[in-house]
Amino acid sequence: MQWRVDAGGQTLALATSGGIPEVIYWGAALPASEDLSQLADAARHDLTGGMLDALPALSLSPEPGRAFPGQPGHLLAEADGAPMSPAFVFERAEEAAGRLALVSSADGITLTHHIAAHPTGVFTLQTVLTASRPIRVAWLAAPVLPALQTGDIIDLHGKWTGEFHLIRTRWSPGIRLREARTGRSGHEHPPYLILADDGCTNTRGTALALQYAWSGGHRMVAEELPDGRRQIQFGAPVGAETAPGTHFATAELIAAGSTTGLNGIAAAFQHDLRDRVVQWPDPARPRPVHYNCWEAVYFRHTLPELADIATRAAALGAERFVLDDGWFGRRDDDTTSLGDWTVDRRKWPDGLHPLIRHIRDLGMTFGLWVEPEMVNPDSDLFRAHPDWMLGPRDQITGRGQMVLDLANPMVRDTLFAQVSAILREYPVDYMKWDHNRLLPIVDTAQTHGIYDLLARLRAAHPGVEIESCASGGGRIDAGILAHTHRVWLSDSNDALERLRMQHDAALFLPAAITGSHVGPRHCHTSGRILPMSFRAWVAAQRHMGFEMDLRELTGDEAATLKKVTAWWKTNRDWTMSGTIHRLDAADPAVTAEMQIARDGGRFVLFAGQAETSRQILPRPLRLTGLDPAARYAVALINPEDVPRQSRGPNALKSGSLTLGGQALMTLGLLLPVAWPGTMWVMEGVRL
Ligand code: DGJ
Repeated sequence: MQWRVDAGGQTLALATSGGIPEVIYWGAALPASEDLSQLADAARHDLTGGMLDALPALSLSPEPGRAFPGQPGHLLAEADGAPMSPAFVFERAEEAAGRLALVSSADGITLTHHIAAHPTGVFTLQTVLTASRPIRVAWLAAPVLPALQTGDIIDLHGKWTGEFHLIRTRWSPGIRLREARTGRSGHEHPPYLILADDGCTNTRGTALALQYAWSGGHRMVAEELPDGRRQIQFGAPVGAETAPGTHFATAELIAAGSTTGLNGIAAAFQHDLRDRVVQWPDPARPRPVHYNCWEAVYFRHTLPELADIATRAAALGAERFVLDDGWFGRRDDDTTSLGDWTVDRRKWPDGLHPLIRHIRDLGMTFGLWVEPEMVNPDSDLFRAHPDWMLGPRDQITGRGQMVLDLANPMVRDTLFAQVSAILREYPVDYMKWDHNRLLPIVDTAQTHGIYDLLARLRAAHPGVEIESCASGGGRIDAGILAHTHRVWLSDSNDALERLRMQHDAALFLPAAITGSHVGPRHCHTSGRILPMSFRAWVAAQRHMGFEMDLRELTGDEAATLKKVTAWWKTNRDWTMSGTIHRLDAADPAVTAEMQIARDGGRFVLFAGQAETSRQILPRPLRLTGLDPAARYAVALINPEDVPRQSRGPNALKSGSLTLGGQALMTLGLLLPVAWPGTMWVMEGVRL
């Protein structure tokens, strides 16, 4: 028996000959006329010496009991710990438009593999296990997929203030294993993977990609078997299912495929996260320009100072003022008060009302920082409920804090009541929801707990947007994004770092959900000093905001920031709903992207000069994603950033160019020479 599911230019074909079905094809869309039984025949391997007399299937869940020569897709035991290896038999398929469920069972255990095609161009895949008696699950993979036989593995690595580094590994026999065991998707091993074929660049070639929609850590196995077959597995970390049960489900694995380079993957994931995964309170609401006070005042909250800063923020174009950490309990530093979510009357004798009134009088809305999952040992909550924390009593703290056990319904109810009380008392339209420590244990129940709490809060306060922050980008995944609306990509507001980070994160994240702030002149996490123009344009590449003491701005800096902010607001309707395409810059010193409107009618090109180029003059920058037959007017909108040393007749310095899409994509554009820390911004309009 065979089946196929199609989504966004990719086809997934599956077959069974009696056992758990296996994927026989994952790649570029097949014609409707493709004969699936021939495809299944074509997928049959030969045998040779030293092998068993039949090839154990690389099925949707390779079975440990069937001599599979690699990592199994599940590891199960009876409730008493006795290992079991059911020999699954295929039972039935349930088919509906764009959906397929394949059911296999043995010994009272049923495995259902769900596959769904989405209009955003991705597949989602999920494994559900049900048992007739409580059993233990040590490992359960989402539906297992075959990998390309050529090319590289690209996965991600990161750290605090250095998120989203792409790591490229050649395939070789054996395993590439990434396991995030810190209880959150994490800076270290975020749950993303790209299988890039040989020669695949941003704009050309073949790639397949996956992301695991789960915030509690994950395990990824990319394995080349001794016989040469390759498999990809994603699931929760080993041992994260801590209790026996009769129902287990993996998170959804989101799959994208492209024959138009990495940008095809990026386009599918950007659209899917923004248009399917994120549940916007009001999809039509333009993304408001943020002001966040963290790097301006840290814990030092005073009404006159913050009111003054708010006035300046509004004058520069901010539309939402976010009061960060320091407003509750007795929170004068990060050692105390998490858990005590009532306003600190020493700092705010009349509550937050006077500040909020001022902010709203200025025409801005109000956002508030919270970190409800955490508790400081020095807090009233901890003193009252020392047994509410997660993990052992003698655990190592992180940032001086512990984690509340969100599997405990009393904890969730208390947090729901605390946060709801704030949202009822104050007109808050946004919460920056932080999560600043690694968890002491890994347990899926904790992740289900936070999803449940966020879902309840969203249902009770449907107008509130939420940002997922975890010391910057420590919890960025499609699981948390089903409950939140923005991510704080990094605690680095260094525009050079951000340029690279945003570029790599764009393989997965759309501009509309990626927070990016203009930081202080003297960067607080790198010590660098970068020009305001560069800082502002880098923030304008994503969901823009400011995060600095605005009293430090010179007149020129304020004028530049105001101008760039005005540009961002004028264009956000189409940039935030468009697609980011990464360019293949011939010069490694240049990091460039285009944001193309949904209807293809206009684009903006950002070319960031991150360092000094080796050659004397800029190399032409080839555009992408245009209609080769259309004509475009292209203009550099910040010629004032041209440095003193630029003294030639470069056309873009003095006017616009009108060129065909083919010429722009083949020949490219020649930009003026630039100092490191310059962002060229070009607008293009289809004529
Ligand atoms: C970590 C976040 O990433 C920062 O932006 C800030 O909100 C601090 N926490 C506050 O404690």
